[in-house]
Amino acid sequence: MAQFRAFLLIILFICSFTSAMAAYNIADFGAKPDGQTDSAKPLLNAWAAACGSNEPATIIVPTGRFLLSQALFQGPCKNSNIRIFISGTIVAPSGYGSNTAWIAFNYVQGLSIFGGTLDGQGQSFWACKLAGQSCPNGATGLSIAESKNILISGLTMMNSELFHISIFGSSGVTVQGAKITAPENSPNTDGIHIQKSSFITISGSSIQTGDDCISMGEGATNVWIERIKCGPGHGISIGSLGGTPQEDGVQNITVKSVVFTGTQNGVRIKTWGKPYTGFVKGVRFQHVTMQNVQNPVVIDQNYCPDNKNCPGQSSGIQISEVTFSDIHGSSATQVAVKFDCSPSNPCSGIVLQNINLNYLNNQAQSYCRNVHGSTSGFVIPPSCL
Ligand SMILES: *[C@@H]1O[C@H](CO)[C@@H](O)[C@H](O)[C@H]1NC(C)=O
Repeated sequence: MAQFRAFLLIILFICSFTSAMAAYNIADFGAKPDGQTDSAKPLLNAWAAACGSNEPATIIVPTGRFLLSQALFQGPCKNSNIRIFISGTIVAPSGYGSNTAWIAFNYVQGLSIFGGTLDGQGQSFWACKLAGQSCPNGATGLSIAESKNILISGLTMMNSELFHISIFGSSGVTVQGAKITAPENSPNTDGIHIQKSSFITISGSSIQTGDDCISMGEGATNVWIERIKCGPGHGISIGSLGGTPQEDGVQNITVKSVVFTGTQNGVRIKTWGKPYTGFVKGVRFQHVTMQNVQNPVVIDQNYCPDNKNCPGQSSGIQISEVTFSDIHGSSATQVAVKFDCSPSNPCSGIVLQNINLNYLNNQAQSYCRNVHGSTSGFVIPPSCL
């Protein structure tokens, strides 16, 4: 696989040169692969050249370890075909802790990133949080904001302080062949978070972190997630929604061919038990394997941590047209299917189709509250819809 990737990378290099586009190697801008010299300036200068070029442009990060303090790659650019080939590793300073993302692309249209390893060095930041001390805010690893037509292919990412990849206010973003890792006990290290974004594809990736593999917040629409290995972590989640007023709805989400191993949740929709209105509509979870997952199938509309600011309230988020199809494997707890919907906005159009979940090779259970829907094919545990 690694060899195949290297081969692909070489082909892509050759293509990029034969199409005679401008190429900027960060080594030529003074970057040192010693893991100690800050390469922020060389990277940003290479970006300025590529972004300012009227022709398609290529940035090359060669092999070696490049320390990067922080970089904001700002658009709009003069061309819509920038490619960044990363052969080496880009590492964050330990204890970065900043409020802003470590690596950010803003207002960029037409960018492809191939290969590379990004090491967020979040260990000392997590240690501060886990010790319950007052800590800096922490940083997202890679942020894509207000951008269009972005491809991230074959990226390896590890140990972000917070979320690894954040996609915000963007459309046409594809993440393929990513490998994201952080320890199971690292707090808030979601793999990929999608918010206020449309036409997002995440495919062929493996995500092992301390929080959600993939999370979708308000305004995630037309999202396609396919061939993902998830775990350890908290699963694939829509939400938490409805924590604040006037959130955008979540619509047309497909999650298929996912394997969850030892995760806290499998597929989940979660809203606050608060009256703020909103909706989730048109979600398909298909061909999912659960291996020892604590809560394989969950809709929870009563999220109210520590019972603060919401006890006794009812979620104003309307959840409808959610299909769970070909979901099989093992639950680590007895309730394998849990629908706990809002008393004021019951879930509707929930469909269970060919479900086979067991609990320690015994019969698992279903739980239903304020939910309407239907079943087809076989459904184990027996449905309470
Ligand atoms: C749903 O989203 C997919 C992309 O994930 C898109 O191809 C499809 O056209 C969308 N469907 C509708 C009805 O918008």
